[in-house]
Amino acid sequence: SAAAQQRDALLAWYSNVHDSRGMPWRKPYDRSFDADARAQRAYEVWVSEIMLQQTQVATVKPYYTKWMINFPTIKHLAASDIDTVNGLWKGLGYYSRAKRLLDGARKVVEELDGRLPSNAKDMESLIPGIGRYTAGAICSIAYNEQVPVLDGNVNRLLSRVLALHSNPKSKTTLDTLWAGADAMVKGSSSPGDVNQALIELGSTVCKPREPACVSCPLKPWCQAYKGTEVAPSSPPHHT
Ligand code: ADE
Repeated sequence: SAAAQQRDALLAWYSNVHDSRGMPWRKPYDRSFDADARAQRAYEVWVSEIMLQQTQVATVKPYYTKWMINFPTIKHLAASDIDTVNGLWKGLGYYSRAKRLLDGARKVVEELDGRLPSNAKDMESLIPGIGRYTAGAICSIAYNEQVPVLDGNVNRLLSRVLALHSNPKSKTTLDTLWAGADAMVKGSSSPGDVNQALIELGSTVCKPREPACVSCPLKPWCQAYKGTEVAPSSPPHHT
């Protein structure tokens, strides 16, 4: 299918770039993990995703490492306090993110036996501050669940591939984009890699201005790229 071909091209591209930027939260999915080890991976990915929501990869790295030394597990985080947490967040900005992590960790420890929920649906409904994007990122990466992500980068990338000219924030457009993101991960044996490849392709190649289409693995399927190719060579005819 076209979706499977796109996915293969995307994953081939990702396999060449993904470890080049040394992200400490990226570890291969390990199917031998028990429920506790899986929930621990979910905690690590959760922290990284919240930090990455409004901050660049290079900036997040040292903050993530320091956070994990101070709060190696969700229980360590839950037992802390807002001043300590804000102290570790100093310089990252958007401090409400830190409070969301602390509040979420306390709920998990007090009400959920110390483990983040085991699937995206429960995670989104049970943990305040975890929406569809974050649940999709955590569960695809930590649990290998076939759930999509749609952040600003993936939104722009898929809007171009599908040549959506509609308002990128309208409900109808978002439904179409989520369906497109879902088609990329459904049936994949490595949905976490597919999602991280989409995020990374969107942020490093399919940039808002002057996208680097020459190095894009999705250009054979990209409607916007076809438009740029065809337009200059087919001027309107006036006879
Ligand atoms: N931005 C958001 N999530 C990310 C991830 N998992 N890897 C790289 N950049 C990201």
